[in-house]
Amino acid sequence: MKKHIKIFNNIAELSQYFATLIASGVQNTPEGRFFSIALSGGSTPKVVFEYLAAHFKEAIAWDNVQVFWSDERCVFPESPESNYRMAKESLLDRVPIPAAQIFRMQGEADPAAEAARYTEAVLQSTPHFNGIPVFDLLMLGLGDDGHTASIFPHNSHLFYSELPFEVADHPQSGQHRITVTGQTINHANAVVFIATGAAKAEMVANVLEKRAGWEKLPAALVQPEAGTLFWLLDVAAAGEL
Ligand code: 6PG
Repeated sequence: MKKHIKIFNNIAELSQYFATLIASGVQNTPEGRFFSIALSGGSTPKVVFEYLAAHFKEAIAWDNVQVFWSDERCVFPESPESNYRMAKESLLDRVPIPAAQIFRMQGEADPAAEAARYTEAVLQSTPHFNGIPVFDLLMLGLGDDGHTASIFPHNSHLFYSELPFEVADHPQSGQHRITVTGQTINHANAVVFIATGAAKAEMVANVLEKRAGWEKLPAALVQPEAGTLFWLLDVAAAGEL
């Protein structure tokens, strides 16, 4: 596993680097194939999406991109909590990506049925290996408790699920989520964590330095088998490294 830890002065520089990862990935995608990206939810990704829309509308060949999600809250797409709505408003409505290339997790559906449906939709649309989707770029955030996507410490067993996508639940609210699982994450060609702000510094260090108890942190279990792992941090989030 190749790992790159990049520390940026601010989220604009981080976003620029993230955008160039996508732009170069799309450019290097063989003729006749899409570049598949799985988006994360969260406030940090939202800022990154807005930067992409503002500065990379023309620089990325969006008609060669397929968009999926790493996870979704089980809410209607109009809900303020929807990761789809956040991505739609901050990015997808602002770049020329064909609607047929946007694969929404249907948060309003029965969670178990949707996890199964989404798995099939992904497998039919992307390259896969032994029934495991292979995304070109899978984006992840880092929760203060070490969660990533919607795999939380209390249900970290989901990381090891045989299924590519599973139903999870939020530890406090109990809200159901659809989440990518560890084998899908670890089969991606590139996994890109984005974490900013001092509030993340301790958890970033716990994960990256494998401090005591790291085995219980879902984010620390992310180790792409053949792909590249990127940690994109701002100075504040890297403050304890
Ligand atoms: C979600 C995300 C979640 C998020 C982290 C970080 O659906 O909320 O998938 O994993 O990325 O909680 O979120 P912030 O960037 O808002 O701290």
